[in-house]
Amino acid sequence: MNPFAPDLLRSLARAHGTPLWVYDAATIRQRIAELRAFDTIRYAQKANSNTHLLRLMREAGVVVDAVSRGEIERALAAGFSPAPDAQGAAGIVFTADLFDPATLDTVVRHGVTVNAGSIDMLDQLGAVSPGHRVWLRINPGFGHGHSNKTNTGGEHSKHGIWHAELPQALAAVARHRLHLVGLHMHIGSGVDYGHLQQVCAAMVDLVKRAGVAIEAISAGGGLSIPYRDGEPRLDTAHYFQLWDAARREIASHLGRDVHLELEPGRYLVAESGVLLTEVRATKHMGRQRFTLVDAGFSDLMRPAMYGAYHGMSLLPADDTPRAEVDTVVAGPLCESGDVFTQADGGVVLTRRLPEARVGDLLVLHDAGAYGASMSSNYNTRGLAAEVLVDGDTHRLIRRRQTVEELIALENV
Ligand code: LLP
Repeated sequence: MNPFAPDLLRSLARAHGTPLWVYDAATIRQRIAELRAFDTIRYAQKANSNTHLLRLMREAGVVVDAVSRGEIERALAAGFSPAPDAQGAAGIVFTADLFDPATLDTVVRHGVTVNAGSIDMLDQLGAVSPGHRVWLRINPGFGHGHSNKTNTGGEHSKHGIWHAELPQALAAVARHRLHLVGLHMHIGSGVDYGHLQQVCAAMVDLVKRAGVAIEAISAGGGLSIPYRDGEPRLDTAHYFQLWDAARREIASHLGRDVHLELEPGRYLVAESGVLLTEVRATKHMGRQRFTLVDAGFSDLMRPAMYGAYHGMSLLPADDTPRAEVDTVVAGPLCESGDVFTQADGGVVLTRRLPEARVGDLLVLHDAGAYGASMSSNYNTRGLAAEVLVDGDTHRLIRRRQTVEELIALENV
């Protein structure tokens, strides 16, 4: 979806240039509201870690997950308190499969709860911070994702502690007198209800096998959004019911209340954002038409990385009638894979769009998640600027990175 009026996008492109990320605060607040049934919504900021969006999340009562030292620093900059409150719900959680020394130091210094994806993490943390709060991220032995690259469970995934090694993980927790908060599972991005039921059952089974009283469970993230027209929207009430049933079964087994967390990234921000680009060239290769825009996979990597589909719309610069045509949409990078219309494996596809001319704007939809946060400086291109629209107001929330800034890093 594209939440913005054409004239607003045209004026933002004039004011800030292109490529430009534009986000809608109202859409983010709406998605948060749809998940309120969960005790805690913990935003997986890897989807979009702009500190202004993190502040918006905090003001809406959402807490935050971090997967690197940088993301912990971002959460602190956005005003999140690192350590949990009396209920143990809030505070930053650091989710990873390993520690580097600087990150371990940051985690310990700020009292950030750790969601450990390896027993080595428990040993390294326990050695310097006995009593530290930990979750165990468990790989249940199966996974599912919109692409093999986003499947985070099973024997081929590097993520989490293997389910059969739970006793060893619990022994490490006991050895270091770590404070076990709960168990966490995240099997991948783009989960369907069949797999969801399987994860819920695996979580119940795991708690019963663990034989320890935990305070909380985390359902991880992975909630999908409709990238294509006509794709069904996730039924968030049904999603909650499945996890709530698992939570109740666990609570009755343990004879205590169990807190239920959710850790979405994409669901909260994907539909709020577009990538605004300008058409800079059009050409034919034999019978194939190409529309070339000023954004590339250095900005939005998802099509090149996963063959991901993003809806597109053209905002013509003038009123001349435009016929519908089939066109490849590609970017400026010196690389053949710099194509926004492609299938997984690099097969080039076309999209039916009004015939584009130089100076038109092309809008890439549903780009709020894993867009700006996965951008790179390939071909020495600075990171694009970001704008947040909130009702009738809009403001720049990240300025464009200059080439001079990039080169300056090498003045050593
Ligand atoms: N929790 C954990 C432990 C995760 O690894 C992830 C995503 C999430 C939560 C949030 O998942 P979400 O709700 O956003 O699906 N770059 C890929 C997605 C990679 C996701 C990595 N982990 C993409 O553009 O589709």
